[in-house]
Amino acid sequence: MLLPLLSLAGGEKIYSEFCENCHGFSRQGSLGLPLYSSIIANYSDRYLQRTIKSGRPGRIMPKFNFSDAQIVKLIKFLRAGIKAPKYDTTPIKGNIKAGHYTYEKYCQRCHGVDLKGGQGIGKNFSWKKDRKISPPSLANQGFLYSAEDQMIKHIIVNGIKDTEMISFTKAFNFTEQTVDDLVGFIRSHERPFDYKHVTKQIDEPMSFVYTSPYKLEETINRLQESAAAYNFRVYPNRALLQGLGEFEIGDEKQVVVRFCNFRNMQAFLKLDPRLGVMLPCRATVIEDEQGKVSIVLENYKHAVARFNNEQISQSVGDLVEEMQEMVKEALW
Ligand code: HEC
Ligand code: HEC
Repeated sequence: MLLPLLSLAGGEKIYSEFCENCHGFSRQGSLGLPLYSSIIANYSDRYLQRTIKSGRPGRIMPKFNFSDAQIVKLIKFLRAGIKAPKYDTTPIKGNIKAGHYTYEKYCQRCHGVDLKGGQGIGKNFSWKKDRKISPPSLANQGFLYSAEDQMIKHIIVNGIKDTEMISFTKAFNFTEQTVDDLVGFIRSHERPFDYKHVTKQIDEPMSFVYTSPYKLEETINRLQESAAAYNFRVYPNRALLQGLGEFEIGDEKQVVVRFCNFRNMQAFLKLDPRLGVMLPCRATVIEDEQGKVSIVLENYKHAVARFNNEQISQSVGDLVEEMQEMVKEALW
């Protein structure tokens, strides 16, 4: 009795460390979709393995470099004892044109034009959005790489329990041919895709360190002024200086200066306002034992690279460059 329980704990730990902040403590969904066992019951091991390994480039689901053993544990945890379905991987042949027609009529209002997915991401609890669960992108290469045609068919025929994805066969008497045409149309969006090369390598340091010619106090003042002035110049009404937190570690003195430039965060927040919490803009001012003062900026480009999302990478890249200029101005 003990052994299976132990291996279950392994999967739970991986989940809480790597998935929980997006998929929720009880798998109810948040930035990510809900992953209840009743939902997982529709997915083959192959689909889950591939989804975890490749992510959903262009949305925000990252890819994970787990070992096969870790993925097996994780999937076991997600299934919670419910048997895995197996889908035949032979492609379903359908009439793409007819599928396109049906898609526009029945699916587009949720899954979007060009199958791009619904507004925002994941599951929403708080702010007003079109739908409680944002319909996933069906043209996403990570999805198409992972999903079997038979799985897509199964979902159109049966729906996904307790979600807005209803059984279209039940609700609208879809014939098997109609479903096959839809699958053919969705599949026609697949392009050559190699998940191993998805994440861009960033040829930059993890953080930038600047030596200050000024004393600690003055460095902080100059940095705050520069932050305010910098934002002021760009967006007068939106400059925000969140104040000063001070603490000491051993003989080193560290002060974190927080600030934010909303213009650069807008593209980021458009995708989902909740992403904002992932990106604190701050600089750390450090005085070492010899009295040498430096400013350290974290390079956020590394932190967001794993999302594989152009929009996020672009806006965070702009933000980091602006922060660097701001620090240089402070030390002028
Ligand atoms: C940064 C947030 C984030 C993290 C971390 C994350 N996911 Fe996701 N995940 C998402 C989003 C968003 C989607 C939906 C993709 C879409 O909208 O196209 C998703 C989709 C999925 C799906 C497909 C669900 C479906 O209904 O087809 C699975 C399975 C999944 N994630 C598993 C995991 C696992 C396991 C982990 C941890 C190893 C994880 N995710 C970590 C955000 C995340
Ligand atoms: C009312 C909105 C709505 C409509 C209409 C709709 N869907 Fe969905 N669909 C969803 C939602 C929401 C999900 C995600 C459910 C979940 O996993 O939590 C989904 C999931 C799916 C999935 C699984 C994708 C994944 O990443 O797990 C497929 C395939 C799919 N839909 C196909 C279709 C097709 C084909 C049609 C048209 C016949 C359609 N849907 C119509 C809302 C909708």
